[in-house]
Amino acid sequence: MQNFIYDNKTRIIFGKDTETQVGEEVKQYGKKVLLHYGGGSIKKYGLYDRVVASLKEADLSVVELGGVKPNPRLSLVNEGIDLCKEHDIDFIIAVGGGSVIDSAKAIGFGAKYEGDVWDFFTGKEQITNTIPLGVILTIPAAGSEASTGTVITKEEGLYKRSAGSLLIRPKFAIMNPEVTYTLPDYQTSCGACDMFAHVMERYFTNESDVDFTDQLCEATMRTIIKQSKSAIEHPNDYAARAEIMWAGTIAHNGLLGTGRIEDWASHVIEHEISAIYDIAHGAGLAIVFPAWMKYVYKKDVKRFAQFANRVFGVELDLNNLERTALEGIERIKLFFKQIGLPTSLKDAGIDSDRLEEMAKKATENGPFGNFVNLDEDDVLNILKLTVE
Ligand code: NZQ
Ligand code: ZN
Repeated sequence: MQNFIYDNKTRIIFGKDTETQVGEEVKQYGKKVLLHYGGGSIKKYGLYDRVVASLKEADLSVVELGGVKPNPRLSLVNEGIDLCKEHDIDFIIAVGGGSVIDSAKAIGFGAKYEGDVWDFFTGKEQITNTIPLGVILTIPAAGSEASTGTVITKEEGLYKRSAGSLLIRPKFAIMNPEVTYTLPDYQTSCGACDMFAHVMERYFTNESDVDFTDQLCEATMRTIIKQSKSAIEHPNDYAARAEIMWAGTIAHNGLLGTGRIEDWASHVIEHEISAIYDIAHGAGLAIVFPAWMKYVYKKDVKRFAQFANRVFGVELDLNNLERTALEGIERIKLFFKQIGLPTSLKDAGIDSDRLEEMAKKATENGPFGNFVNLDEDDVLNILKLTVE
């Protein structure tokens, strides 16, 4: 096990009606608030009114910026930065999913910087200051409510890139599972796949003696499998929605990566797909992850067999661990299919004519991935496995 520091200060406020506490939470950070949200679901289902009432009750002055699209765009981030500077905003409250939260994070550090906020996404600048933010989560998926990252798409050139710092971890995340009842099945499934992938990016490590965190990962993955199916069958099942919501945060708040080196290659490859084709990130991962697994499993057949056995209950074939490992990859594909996700580019209606371009863009800053380090040829080979 590697040495580590685990430092996660996001205050989690979880459960029914918790969104009514937002005003009191925000109050301690200042008076002027930017309320940031997406394409309208929060207005349609009444959450917006409850949030605004709570902010007003706490005597806060509110500036609004809605319209965040899934795979959030740089142009809206720049609009938000201008608003924050104009109104001297003290705190940002993001009401939505990963896209809204990521947009809010980028606005926060962009507003404290005189240059182009994209500098943080190219690695030219490091984040040293930000407007603090809080979250009301409406879709369990990206884990951005307690993560240190943000992922933004620059329209020009279709670059989807991330930036990160401990400074941009949200101060609090309000999580009421009831607000997720209105999620379309497809979004519930995309969310389940994303959080499952966040666990796998950590699970597939070359680190030995990490059995405790292996088992935490396995419990999280088993929960996601079981409860996502329940939530799709019964969208108003509080217990299932609550379990998924908490699992999604734990999947990506750093706990499951303690003491081990994480991989993250599948995410880098997926971001090239959603940058160009604007598909949901979780759907892109359902396409990429099984292909990545097939390409790399020989690096540690034992670990892949353990995954198959402990997560999907595949019987361990001690005389042929490779068989068990491969069965695990089939089972994960089956799970994604069962919850209605595409597992190939073809399933998603995407042509295979831009694979070379994606492989090139993904490796612009050199090879990546820690379980197996991948160069441009490797990425292209993995993308070829995603075609059908
Ligand atoms: O925009 P509205 O109208 O609100 O609709 C949204 C959106 O269309 C809808 N939705 C959300 N909550 C709802 C709801 N519809 C009905 N009822 C509700 N309660 O769901 C759609 C998807 O929302 P989005 O925020 O895009 O989903 P998600 O949370 O999956 O976020 C995806 C983004 O997060 C990034 C992804 O790359 C992608 O851009 N990620 C961010 C990470 C991070 N910051 O740590 C890590 C992840 O790996 C990921 O890359
Ligand atoms: Zn993800």
